[in-house]
Amino acid sequence: VVVVLDVLRATTTIAYALQAGCRDIIPVEDISEAMRLADTLGKDRTLLCGERGGQKIPGFHLGNSPLEYTPQVVEGKTRLLTTTNGTRALVVAQGAEVLTGSFVNLSMVAARAVADERDLLLLCAGRESRFSLEDTVCAGGLLSRLPEGMYELSDAAVVAAALYRRHSDDLLGMMRASQHGRYLVSLGLERDLSVAAAVDALPVVGRLCEGKVVKA
Ligand code: MLT
Repeated sequence: VVVVLDVLRATTTIAYALQAGCRDIIPVEDISEAMRLADTLGKDRTLLCGERGGQKIPGFHLGNSPLEYTPQVVEGKTRLLTTTNGTRALVVAQGAEVLTGSFVNLSMVAARAVADERDLLLLCAGRESRFSLEDTVCAGGLLSRLPEGMYELSDAAVVAAALYRRHSDDLLGMMRASQHGRYLVSLGLERDLSVAAAVDALPVVGRLCEGKVVKA
């Protein structure tokens, strides 16, 4: 089982979209492919969504802020999603049993991840192929919710667990201090950090199934 984590903001927004009744989310790597798919699937049933440099892509319907994904906007629609790091991680993981996780659904994702008693890979999307604090802390939070002794931890997992213990009392502060968090704040998107820091706010888990993220 692979759990893809992109707390700021792709997997948080995926949870919001699913909770709001979005039919499915198709992760795509580039903008032109998303536009081509919108033409193929039909413009009335799809929404072009995503970001580059944190900002909504010109001509797209929605950016990557969780609170944009309300039932009025997304219910019954297919969301074509292209983001800088998160969708890339989802595309890479395709073929495995893939779940999407974030703080907003942490406990449910953990419960779902252990259900099959298989090996677990926590795939932190990171930032431009580099380490990101918020995804690693989220991985640590997920580890803290797994039954003790069920898994043998890698060194990276041990570090993630320690980082979670260090930051669990102030996840919002941790995100504000993180590189991508600071960048989003500089774009005026501080509210997205508060939304992303709300542990277990949503009772929904995403699962990648034949190239589409649907409710697990
Ligand atoms: C990404 O996939 O790189 C992120 O979700 C970026 C963002 O929307 O802030």
